[in-house]
Amino acid sequence: MSDFVMGIETSCDETAAAIVDKGRNILSNIVSSQIKIHNKYGGVVPEIASRKHMESIIPVIDSALKESKITLDQLSGIAVTYGPGLVGSLLVGLTVAKSISYAQNIPLIGVNHLEAHIYANFLEHKRLKPPIICLIVSGGHTSLVHINDYWDYKILGQTVDDAAGEVFDKISKYLNLGYPGGPIIEKLASKGDSTAIAFPRPLLNKHNYDFSFSGLKTSVIYYIKKLILEKKPIPQNDILASFQIAVADVLAQKTIKAALNTGVNTIALAGGVAANCYIKTFIENMAQNNKIEVFSPSQKLCTDNAVMVASAGFYQLKNKKQSNLSIDAVSRLAISSNE
Ligand code: KG4
Ligand code: ZN
Repeated sequence: MSDFVMGIETSCDETAAAIVDKGRNILSNIVSSQIKIHNKYGGVVPEIASRKHMESIIPVIDSALKESKITLDQLSGIAVTYGPGLVGSLLVGLTVAKSISYAQNIPLIGVNHLEAHIYANFLEHKRLKPPIICLIVSGGHTSLVHINDYWDYKILGQTVDDAAGEVFDKISKYLNLGYPGGPIIEKLASKGDSTAIAFPRPLLNKHNYDFSFSGLKTSVIYYIKKLILEKKPIPQNDILASFQIAVADVLAQKTIKAALNTGVNTIALAGGVAANCYIKTFIENMAQNNKIEVFSPSQKLCTDNAVMVASAGFYQLKNKKQSNLSIDAVSRLAISSNE
């Protein structure tokens, strides 16, 4: 028996729709990215993002249906991100999902975007089972989550200022390298010497699991400004490699400390920054030394997509968690097992 769920994702700058069968079997995965439009501003412009979602959402849903070769009346549910994210953008996906739910008389499942990022791991790794320490690192979030059981989460720590991906984006913007900064910096950093400059590792010695990246960003920018003032050459690739290793080091040490202190020997990485091979390998190596196994989604499912939303929605529905049509978009939404 098939069990088709459509996922819709419009929380930031990607308009995405996907059809997934039984939570794991991907029938279609359509992502329409607005990267080119926001590139010239060096970051996402919320007003432009919602307008672009309005233009793209129906064609994206049509493509997802066409590619999967199923029709709306074969769906057993419609899952949609309702937060956290840009409210104007979330509302576009939410309104379309509500309309489909109402017209087709199928359950509507509001999905937390961060939980969806976690589900990208469950979707691809059958072997992965709670308890897990999950590090969610994206453009908007840096959170360490203790997944005790499916739908039983506890946030151990999060960023007190900028998210990890946000710092990649801001440094890239400062250097006029383009948006999103993550993949661009990863490429340039691979040609640099990561030991060239000892940038700070913020909050590493604090006895908690919180992160802070804003000071690191300022150190990198001041380092460059000083070289400009002194009319010295700027070793850009070395600076970026030294910055990247500082991020990797903090993420790895905090995540592994969380795993060791909770007695959990499985780590899952999620979110756009988990697409960074250098950071992923850095965490994997440190984990291996501590006999901890690391799982992460394939690159395509690390960054925003609707497959992860459909998958989380399928398992929510199985768990009898569905939403009613009055569900609203929520800009700041924590992961919570009591929703
Ligand atoms: O998960 P995502 O697509 O959207 C959010 O939920 O925020 O993550 C996007 C973020 C951006 O900040 C981007 O620069 C970062 O993920 N990112 C990366 C890489 N690919 C994407 N950061 C570092 N290295 C990468 N290769
Ligand atoms: Zn995301």
